[in-house]
Amino acid sequence: AGFRLDFRESTGSTNDDVREAARTGASAGLVVVAERQQAGRGRRGAAWICPPGEGLAFSVLLRPSEPKSLWPRLSLAAGLAVAEGLDRHGVAAEVKWPNDVWIGGKKIAGILVEAGEDFVTVGIGINVGVTNFPEMLAASATSLALECGDAPELPLVLASVLERLPVWEAKIGADFDELLRRFRERCALTGKQIRLTCADGVLAGEAAGIGDGGELLIRTPEGIRRIVQAEEIRLAE
Ligand code: BTN
Repeated sequence: AGFRLDFRESTGSTNDDVREAARTGASAGLVVVAERQQAGRGRRGAAWICPPGEGLAFSVLLRPSEPKSLWPRLSLAAGLAVAEGLDRHGVAAEVKWPNDVWIGGKKIAGILVEAGEDFVTVGIGINVGVTNFPEMLAASATSLALECGDAPELPLVLASVLERLPVWEAKIGADFDELLRRFRERCALTGKQIRLTCADGVLAGEAAGIGDGGELLIRTPEGIRRIVQAEEIRLAE
C-alpha cells in the first residue's frame, strides 16, 4: 500500500496532526510519526507517555470505502495488524478486545481509533525499547526490549505493522469472517474472568469470546451479554 511518512521530532499528538491533514484534504495513507508527543492521548482521556526513542508513536489516515457503520471494525483490524507486526520481532502478541495488544497479560501497545466525517485516524503507540516503566505501570506494561532482551529499531517495527494494516483494513466488509477468526485465535480475554464497565454499569464474568459482529461476549449470572463498547476491561484477580 502507498504509505507516505511524515516524520516529526516533536508534536502534540500525531492523531491531531492526521486529523488536521485529513480536514484539509490529505489522502489515505498519510502516516505521521513522532519522536516525541507533548500531548499523546490514550483512550478514555488518558495520556499516552513514552520516552523519546523508546516508543513508537504514529497515526495513519484511512479513508475506508466501506460504509461508516462498519468502521468500528477497524479497531479489531488495527489490533490484529499490530499483534502480527510485533510477532515478526519474535514475540507472541495477543489482542485484548477491542484493541490493546498484550504479551503475557501485559500491555505492549495501545491503539486510539478516531473517526471523522469522511476519514479515520488510527493512532498506535508501541513500547519498543522501554526498560523502566513508572512504578504505576510496571506490573501491567511490557515492551519488545523486555520481551526479547533486545529492542529492534523503531523503523523496522513501524514497517512490520504498516505491512499488516492494509491486509486487515481490507477485511472489515465482506471478508470480516476471516478477520474475526484470526482475532479470536489471538484473543487474550477468552476464557478468563473479567470485569468491565459499560453503559449498564459494572459487569463481571467469564469472557466467552467474540461475537459475529466483533462484540465481546461475557457470561454473567444473568446470561451472555454482548458488549459493543466498554470502558476499562480488567482480568479479575
Ligand atoms: C490507549 O491505549 O489508550 C491508546 C494509546 C494510543 C497512543 C497513540 S501514540 C500515537 C497516537 N497519538 C496519540 O496521541 N495517541 C496515539
